[in-house]
Amino acid sequence: MDNNFKDFPKSYWLDSTPDTNYPSLNEDIDVDIVIIGGGLAGINTAYLLQEENLKIAILEAEKICKGTTAYTTAKITSQHGLIYGKIQGKFGKEMANLYGKANENAIKMYDDIINENNINCDFISQSAFVFTQDGKYTKKIKDEVEIAQDLGIDAFYTDEIPFPIDIKAAIGFNNQAQFHPRKYLLALANIIQDKVQIYENTRAVDVEKNDEYIITTEHGKKVRAGKIIITSHYPFYNKKGMYFAKVFPKKSYIIGIEAEEKYPGGMYINVEKPTRSLRHQATPNGELILVVGGYPNVGKKEDTNKNYEALIEFAHNIFTVKGIPYRWSTQDYITLDEIPYIGYFAPDTPNMYIATGFQKWGMTNSMVSAMIIKDLILNGKSPWQEVYDPSRKNIISSAKNFIVENLNVAGSLLSGKLAPLPEDIDLKLREAKVIKKDKDRIGAYRDEQGVLHFVNTTCTHMGCELNWNSAERTWDCPCHGSRFNIDGEIIQGPAVEPLKAGNNVNTIKKLLGEDF
Ligand code: FES
Repeated sequence: MDNNFKDFPKSYWLDSTPDTNYPSLNEDIDVDIVIIGGGLAGINTAYLLQEENLKIAILEAEKICKGTTAYTTAKITSQHGLIYGKIQGKFGKEMANLYGKANENAIKMYDDIINENNINCDFISQSAFVFTQDGKYTKKIKDEVEIAQDLGIDAFYTDEIPFPIDIKAAIGFNNQAQFHPRKYLLALANIIQDKVQIYENTRAVDVEKNDEYIITTEHGKKVRAGKIIITSHYPFYNKKGMYFAKVFPKKSYIIGIEAEEKYPGGMYINVEKPTRSLRHQATPNGELILVVGGYPNVGKKEDTNKNYEALIEFAHNIFTVKGIPYRWSTQDYITLDEIPYIGYFAPDTPNMYIATGFQKWGMTNSMVSAMIIKDLILNGKSPWQEVYDPSRKNIISSAKNFIVENLNVAGSLLSGKLAPLPEDIDLKLREAKVIKKDKDRIGAYRDEQGVLHFVNTTCTHMGCELNWNSAERTWDCPCHGSRFNIDGEIIQGPAVEPLKAGNNVNTIKKLLGEDF
């Protein structure tokens, strides 16, 4: 299939909502609580705490609701693949029960917040399905139905879904939901802004602990806070918690299609690989069907456009596709045992909290974070904290994942450094290459106008080598998912410093200036 995607990927959620314009922090401030990250987890947490007479500030590195929130599929569901069988099998029924109750409560909390505040965000109730086309998962699906029902979830078994997909079995959950994540979150930010200070373009780069926390921003301003909540997707703070060894990025790709057929309702995902998932969204121009796939590792050396092409092929097999007005990708963080880390950042940080590793289920898990962290701050405990505890002892019972993922990181660190590289810059328009100049590895990209852009491709987080992402035209890190634009500016952390240019970049520029 030849999809020489000339246009840039575009998220429907961003395309259909206005930009924001909150101020950046330009003075030192003192607050009771600072929240790092202005996405769903951060703003939901601020909302739940806003009535508590606490001084709260949100620091967002770029614009609020523009990170993962703007690129999600926005399914609000307690059905996270076949999670209940996995949790019950590894940690027992009580833990599966806590996980289910937390997520069902999160769905209800969205419903309550949206109704109480009259938020117009396309929130509708939907059933959610996990299906398989592979008979080896049929028993697992049947078991999951039993386990979910036993936990009080409104689950049912079926062997039919309303698409021309030959399935073997499926599990459905009733009373789940979907919405427009940016319409929801922009409205929520608007509601809280009288009580909560929201700062955009304010990247936190350092955290020190004295009597209180002192957060330094990239522009040198200081925020003093009694408590700090890190909801920045991947924690940029490395001094405790070892998150760099227990949270790993995975990528998903989404296309928004228009079809001849009317979408039959419901939200769908398969069990096997490659992952395929479906939902719909009403828009002023008619119905958009979101076709989702993933989840390869981030920063792999490959032509990432292939992921969109595979989804387009899948969509053509199911629908009569009239157009594909949208396509975008997102990055999710995966934990070792598939349960997010929500709660105290480390055992000895009673005033530092973390919410990360939402797997692919960030809508409910971000609300779960808000509910747990609010309870920990106000009451010192939460009914659901145990299953999500970031310091849970049994994480390493997932030792296989720990070893595999960390070997991947180590492998990326080494292979990136050792890979043979060309020394010439022979690039077509919209092409990139890593080249070698003396000891430097330099990423070169030629844009639409023919202009070359250079970066030093060593990640500023922990030194892994970046790879080119042709679909998004970014430099991506395979280790912990930092992403940089063609000029080395940060698109996504945990890196807090842009890519360094390096002396050889200037040498190459000079050489090219003579030659081009
Ligand atoms: Fe950790 Fe790049 S994101 S080394």
